[in-house]
Amino acid sequence: MANFHEFDIGGIRIGGPVVLGPMAGVTSLAYRDFMKPFGVALSYSEMISDYGLVYGNKETLSYCMTSKTDRPVGLQLFGNDVEITKKAISILEKDYDYDILDINLGCPVYKVTKTGAGSAWLRNPAGLYEYMRAVVGVSHKPVTAKIRLGWDESSLNFETVCEVLERAGVKAISIHSRTSKQGYSGSARHELLAGLGGRLSVPLVISGDINDPLKAGRWMELTGAKAVMVARGGVGNPWLVSAINSQITRGSAIKRFSLERQVDFASSFAESLIAEKGERVAIMRLRGLLPHFFAGYPGSKRLSIEVSQTMASVEDLHKTMEGIRVRGHL
Ligand SMILES: Cc1cc2nc3c(=O)[nH]c(=O)nc-3n(C[C@H](O)[C@H](O)[C@H](O)COP(=O)(O)O)c2cc1C
Repeated sequence: MANFHEFDIGGIRIGGPVVLGPMAGVTSLAYRDFMKPFGVALSYSEMISDYGLVYGNKETLSYCMTSKTDRPVGLQLFGNDVEITKKAISILEKDYDYDILDINLGCPVYKVTKTGAGSAWLRNPAGLYEYMRAVVGVSHKPVTAKIRLGWDESSLNFETVCEVLERAGVKAISIHSRTSKQGYSGSARHELLAGLGGRLSVPLVISGDINDPLKAGRWMELTGAKAVMVARGGVGNPWLVSAINSQITRGSAIKRFSLERQVDFASSFAESLIAEKGERVAIMRLRGLLPHFFAGYPGSKRLSIEVSQTMASVEDLHKTMEGIRVRGHL
């Protein structure tokens, strides 16, 4: 059994082993607030463009919203130009409440990497040092970074990058155990991080395929990570957060949530998302997110098609949820 010990990130106390990973298009404030009570010790916003912040893009600004429940929380920036990033940090510090500043050094999307941001930084450790040094220098909040194993198979340079980040003064490092070239496919390779946590001077958080409590515990032990990052495995599946907590802190399993509870969770998350984003945007997002709440139950495929192809309004949403409640199945 992995032992959990509370840890801190630049003075911010992290009281549990589950960190909610940043996911663009998913981890908005409504999602983070919804997931928090299941045992999230720290959550991260979706990635925020430093240019978007500096130019006052409305959508970008909405990603920076936090709440009193949603703490401690890290806001994640991505950028390639240190002057723009510095301006973005001063806007964050002036206008928003948050605990940690995270820098995205792992995004594999071409639109981001072609500018030199996200995982493109992994190919330029010398430039990365200068950039992160400047970020740490201006930020009044502790700075963390999220990286990958490397750019591709021929450059698995995460140890070098960790050393650069430590020297630059970051206070924790999350590693998604895939390369940038892998994107989100194939398996995460936490075995490559064996013992790394013990060699770092700052807490290590591991990310990638965290969807099983027992495995999460084993990987923490293997890597010496202080926490695991729940990402895709937690979408529509808040049980995962509670189950990992229970497994790692008490060594005991908890039962999966019933369909009835999943319907309640889906409804309450949907209402918060609608309040946050407005009906049109929320319903579009919910078309992709709601089916995850019912994955694995008999009839989930049919429900998924119905939701993803025909749900167009709050009325449709209510009808679908009510239908499941009345029938007692999907
Ligand atoms: C839809 C989606 C959006 C993501 N957005 C971000 C992001 O904004 N910032 C980031 O650092 N990682 C992002 N990630 C990566 C996740 O945080 C996580 O590292 C990755 O999905 C691996 O974990 P998993 O296999 O458990 O999903 C995203 C992943 C997905 C699937």
